[in-house]
Amino acid sequence: MSKTILILPGDGIGPEIVNEAMKVLACLRDEFGLDAEFDEALIGGAAYDAAGHPLPEPTMELAREADAVLLGAVGGPKWEPLDISVRPEKGLLGLRAGLGLFANLRPAILYPQLADASTLKADVVSGLDIMIVRELTGGIYFGQPRGVRKLDNGEREGYNTLIYKESEVDRIVRVAMDIAMKRNSRVCSVDKANVLECTELWREVATRVGGDYPDVELSHMYVDNAAMQLVRAPKQFDVMVTTNMFGDILSDCAAMLTGSIGMLPSASLDEQGKGMYEPIHGSAPDISGKGLANPLATILSVAMLLRYSLNEPELAERVEAAVNSVLDSGLRTPDIHSPGMTEVGTEKMGDAVVTALCSS
Ligand code: IPM
Ligand code: MG
Repeated sequence: MSKTILILPGDGIGPEIVNEAMKVLACLRDEFGLDAEFDEALIGGAAYDAAGHPLPEPTMELAREADAVLLGAVGGPKWEPLDISVRPEKGLLGLRAGLGLFANLRPAILYPQLADASTLKADVVSGLDIMIVRELTGGIYFGQPRGVRKLDNGEREGYNTLIYKESEVDRIVRVAMDIAMKRNSRVCSVDKANVLECTELWREVATRVGGDYPDVELSHMYVDNAAMQLVRAPKQFDVMVTTNMFGDILSDCAAMLTGSIGMLPSASLDEQGKGMYEPIHGSAPDISGKGLANPLATILSVAMLLRYSLNEPELAERVEAAVNSVLDSGLRTPDIHSPGMTEVGTEKMGDAVVTALCSS
């Protein structure tokens, strides 16, 4: 049966990189029998401009009906003056919450060809393969109460709430454990249990869940130390599992270990494995419209989509192999460029992946 993929290009470089990912999807459909149909809808600032809301109901409706969603990026300076309730980022958060996408998988893999592109020494990062499992629909991102209030003395006070139910911790830790079983069987749960009660409970629940996985080695680390260890000796990690906000921060940090945030895909899954796929980078307004953005994180997100939501592991491997061979050939977008390599823009990079794919 044909699968429906909803395409949400979004803002900034979003449309440019999604365009390249679409070429890959079209090639898979035309040459490799991928049975899929594509819908497209508005999200983020583009949706606000057209419909007055960053997540219009028709977009939500299509997202609910689709088998998988591919998203570019949202946000940009143009929409920063807007009230926080209608900023582009709210569209993305609304989609994550509305679809129940609680499990965010952010693999940080160093392609050997890019060892020189990392700001860290090659021997610190070579062979790096970490999976960050970020809780995505709870924590301080969604906790109530939240807001800015006026005190009696007229001063304003901003507040947010870090909150996790045991069941929310339980299910995300299980996702991490299940993934670890297919990797190197090690999970590091990251918290701030020395200060925050909420994450003291997180640690307790993680330990309890760990008891159901005797073959997985579970460790705990405070988030400040985890940030330090990520840049000191990142290869000590296999799977990391953490809260929404800690995961947001640590995954950007892990991204840089791999040379560029422009290389990292992500999957956000619900309880049934339905998912949304997006590069972990943002809309990069500074380079948008210039044809400089690296489309590989979005193309690698297509590979995750094929693997996790469409049950097409062979096609996923083909896409990853095509990316590898393009890197082997020396093509580099500016973010991953190093001496001796050939610098190309967004379209040339996308075309090269399609060419490699078609001849595979
Ligand atoms: C990410 C982004 C988002 C987040 C923003 C755009 C809302 O930084 O996906 O990591 O904070 O989750
Ligand atoms: Mg982020």
